[in-house]
Amino acid sequence: MSTQKTAIVTGAARGIGAAVAKRLADDGLAVAVLDLDADACADTVKAITDAGGKAIAVGADVADEASVNAAVEKVVAELGKPTVVVNNAGITRDNLLFKMTVDDWDAVMAVHLRGAFNVTKAAQKYMVEAEWGRIVNLSSTSALGNRGQVNYSAAKAGMQGFTKTLAIELGRFGVTANAIAPGFIETEMTAATAERVGVPFEDFKRAAASQIPVNRVGVPEDIAHTASFFISEGAGFVSGQVVYVAGGPKD
Ligand SMILES: NC(=O)c1ccc[n+]([C@@H]2O[C@H](COP(=O)([O-])OP(=O)(O)OC[C@H]3O[C@@H](n4cnc5c(N)ncnc54)[C@H](O)[C@@H]3O)[C@@H](O)[C@H]2O)c1
Repeated sequence: MSTQKTAIVTGAARGIGAAVAKRLADDGLAVAVLDLDADACADTVKAITDAGGKAIAVGADVADEASVNAAVEKVVAELGKPTVVVNNAGITRDNLLFKMTVDDWDAVMAVHLRGAFNVTKAAQKYMVEAEWGRIVNLSSTSALGNRGQVNYSAAKAGMQGFTKTLAIELGRFGVTANAIAPGFIETEMTAATAERVGVPFEDFKRAAASQIPVNRVGVPEDIAHTASFFISEGAGFVSGQVVYVAGGPKD
């Protein structure tokens, strides 16, 4: 019987999720590359398989329970029982409170919070059965408050509470749950923010870097490295933690 572990990484078609998926495959896991559109996952899957790893593309909307349950069944059938979940799928719908619509609020809550709930709930039985599991949730420095992101910051603070409760409930089954709270990471998400505020991305990054103690913006691999630590065998006594990966201290 194969001892290869299976991971599900959501929002893994690009950006941070793609880097996490590739890193977990390098670490020896079989990886379900999950995103809204299975075709969009092709590049990530190819990068993994070209490097000798094992991966499949899975199309699902994390906000939709039936879609997630079908996706997890597909992973079980085609890859193996998932014992590692990285809840990374995310969106922004930024606006100042007085201009934010209920749809902007609900969309962000649905992807981050309901999405993480749906995926974790569907996968947890395989972790409990294996008496081993690793859950990693993507929070953000925005959880500490960020102008124009009342929806996103509430969702990302929510991810921290979700993580801590998972750690408490699932610890007895050998399952850890931790959160990564990235600062500024260079992806399409931050490129879209630059566009929204009307600043060229290079200038936007330079301005951000000047405020960051290590004097650079982050890259997806910075987050993948932290995820790799959390899912490692040796991190079994690290649970319910939030690590700010932001090039400097945050609290
Ligand atoms: N980039 C940053 O600076 C930064 C900082 C802090 C936190 N984060 C968080 O990290 C995560 C990844 O961010 P990114 O910058 O790589 O974003 P991104 O926009 O580049 O990628 C997000 C991915 O999630 C997918 N996705 C969106 N909604 C989905 C849904 N309903 N179901 C399945 N997949 C869905 C998208 O299709 C996309 O491929 C997000 O949770 C984000 O909030 C990012």
